[in-house]
Amino acid sequence: MRVFVTGGAGYIGSVASKHLLDAGHSVTVFDSLELGHEEALDERAEFIKGDLRNYRDILDAMDRARPDAVMHFAAYALVGESSANPGKYFRNNDCGGVNLAEAMNECGVKRIIFSSTCATYGQPDTMPITEATPQRPTNPYGQSKLIFEQMLGWYAKIHAFQPVFLRYFNACGAEGRLGEDHAVETHLIPNLLKVALGQSGRIQIFGGDYNTPDGTCVRDYVHVSDLARAHLLAIESDFSGAVNLGTGHGFSVREIIEAAREVSGHPIPADVAPRRAGDPDFLVSDPSKAAQVLGWKAEHTEPKAIIETAWGWHRAHPSGYAGK
Ligand code: UFG
Repeated sequence: MRVFVTGGAGYIGSVASKHLLDAGHSVTVFDSLELGHEEALDERAEFIKGDLRNYRDILDAMDRARPDAVMHFAAYALVGESSANPGKYFRNNDCGGVNLAEAMNECGVKRIIFSSTCATYGQPDTMPITEATPQRPTNPYGQSKLIFEQMLGWYAKIHAFQPVFLRYFNACGAEGRLGEDHAVETHLIPNLLKVALGQSGRIQIFGGDYNTPDGTCVRDYVHVSDLARAHLLAIESDFSGAVNLGTGHGFSVREIIEAAREVSGHPIPADVAPRRAGDPDFLVSDPSKAAQVLGWKAEHTEPKAIIETAWGWHRAHPSGYAGK
């Protein structure tokens, strides 16, 4: 298949591009390189630099690539930033999304695998989270992703699009030369590894008084290679609809810190700090639908094994891609 990958120079998009190429598909990466990294591009892929917010960019690129399907990763994805600057999120993730959908429609492309998120569920009343759990986002980032899911629902009805919404839980880990390098790093695991590398002194635990067994937030950490594999299965299937991508297991912030200490051999000093705004206490997936409709199951389920892959990448790239 010819696959058009938006955000293919980013963290998850670059790993998915590699899986596509390894499986014999051809890939066109569309990325503005605002947050993506040239070093993460695969030389087997065609690269088109452009910005989704500019309709001409995306239409010209789609017209040139004439793909069979789109994988859409390009987006802003910081919960905290979205709460301070919602317009930035709606403009990129939704206005950019409409541009993408319109360009697809113009070029007769119907299939899209969309990177959605468990943030579309907000803080559900029941756990684990299934695809039928009501979607009530608690921040503009989650809202922007939900809006684009809903827009694609209308393109499905009106223009016969066949969208798949892959709702990721906490993406983490690394695959070979591809890893997590964000200009502003807010995620737990990379921040722990920065301490282990001596780049910062201590980790802050955002809240120790949550309604969880050890008082810290519980998350479902899913490896980026497993996410990439799910995209491949989705594109090779004829399934359309929403699928959760998680392991089904939850780990607390303290458990992740302990795992990072064991993997790195560094004591990683930690202090309990005030809660971070908007953090739900407990988010764990029910991944059974992914098994049913895609034949997908996370292979990496142990935090230590997941962190091991991230630690390998961060040690090899202590200053991120630019430092290599
Ligand atoms: N945390 C800390 N200290 C840190 C960083 C994080 O204690 O230095 C805590 C957070 O408060 C949270 C947990 O570690 O409880 C995980 O935080 P991350 O920032 O790694 O991930 P989030 O769960 O906040 O965010 C992820 C994705 C988002 C998605 C969200 C859904 O990155 O895209 O899950 O809740 F929207």
